[in-house]
Amino acid sequence: MLAAFVSTPSPEDPLSVLEIGDRPDPEPREGWTTVQVKAVSLNHHDLFSLRGVGLPQERMPMILGTDAAGVDEDGNEVVVSGVVVGTPGWTGDETLDPKRTLFSELHQGTMAERVVVPRRNLLPKPAELTFGEAACLPTAWLTAYRMLFVKSGLRPGQTVLVQGASGGVATALVVLGRAAGLRVWVTGRSEDKRSAALALGADQAFESGARLPERVDGVMETVGEATWSHSVKSLKPGGVIVTSGATTGFNPGAELNRVFFTQLSVIGSTMGTRDELADLIAMCRTTGVRPQIDVELPLGEAREGFARMLEGRTNGKIVFTL
Ligand SMILES: NC(=O)c1ccc[n+]([C@@H]2O[C@H](COP(=O)([O-])OP(=O)(O)OC[C@H]3O[C@@H](n4cnc5c(N)ncnc54)[C@H](OP(=O)(O)O)[C@@H]3O)[C@@H](O)[C@H]2O)c1
Repeated sequence: MLAAFVSTPSPEDPLSVLEIGDRPDPEPREGWTTVQVKAVSLNHHDLFSLRGVGLPQERMPMILGTDAAGVDEDGNEVVVSGVVVGTPGWTGDETLDPKRTLFSELHQGTMAERVVVPRRNLLPKPAELTFGEAACLPTAWLTAYRMLFVKSGLRPGQTVLVQGASGGVATALVVLGRAAGLRVWVTGRSEDKRSAALALGADQAFESGARLPERVDGVMETVGEATWSHSVKSLKPGGVIVTSGATTGFNPGAELNRVFFTQLSVIGSTMGTRDELADLIAMCRTTGVRPQIDVELPLGEAREGFARMLEGRTNGKIVFTL
């Protein structure tokens, strides 16, 4: 079957080790089921995988991809929830399972014609969403949903700053925050990206690192080192940073003086639960919001999508279709 995969990661040149070609069909497993994939979305996680982050050589070759929408063995249209529980008998929040993984970490990923997934990871795909839109929900959009609505404690009417304008998680934060009645401010690295964020519903867009007209109630962080200091300085006393990613580096200055003197909360967030994904799907249905898709490409042309993300040429989600 056609798949996008990695055999020998390269920390320096991830695009050079992306392989798009034939892989064996996945083996059936007890309690798991095969999904015929119709669409997958590209996430920064896939670039980290090409660089070898969290992927020991003994797991290679590894098919990339953490989320998918497709058709199950009974012909139902489904969305594949991305967190795979690893501890036998685990109940409760699956993101807290110490042995949890995402597809393409321990088990083969979703960027293929077929993927084998635990039955519990399947949710019905609503007819109103295309396969491409549905494929954007389990990773980037669910991450944004949990940051805003499960972790932040922010209320409608408050102001949230989203660091980064054009990324998959950043665009989801703008659309979901706006739909929930937050005042959404954004930073973006170029005029084009800032304009795109305003078109998506952001209230104001600023250059990266710019001084804001007033301090905000919360900051949504996925950029890391490049924006962390600005995030801390942009908060009102008692404000909250929710962090779920660090594209530009994991070791920013901690700014501990500001954190304790102004009594900030710094909250980590990762992916989301199956139940939260169900709620996100319901929110898309009831509010009419949809993932911002930058481009849809056939999986055979995935290299162009990876190059766009690597070079920061994105405006929302990049989707591959099968
Ligand atoms: N913990 C989780 O469960 C989880 C889930 C999903 C994603 N993530 C993480 O979140 C991050 C974003 O993922 P994504 O899929 O949304 O990636 P993406 O689509 O490639 O977006 C990258 C984002 O980072 C910003 N950015 C990149 N370099 C920057 C720099 N030097 N200075 C300022 N901003 C910069 C971009 O802002 P501009 O618009 O200004 O270019 C853009 O918004 C990744 O680190 C990913 O691993 C974590």
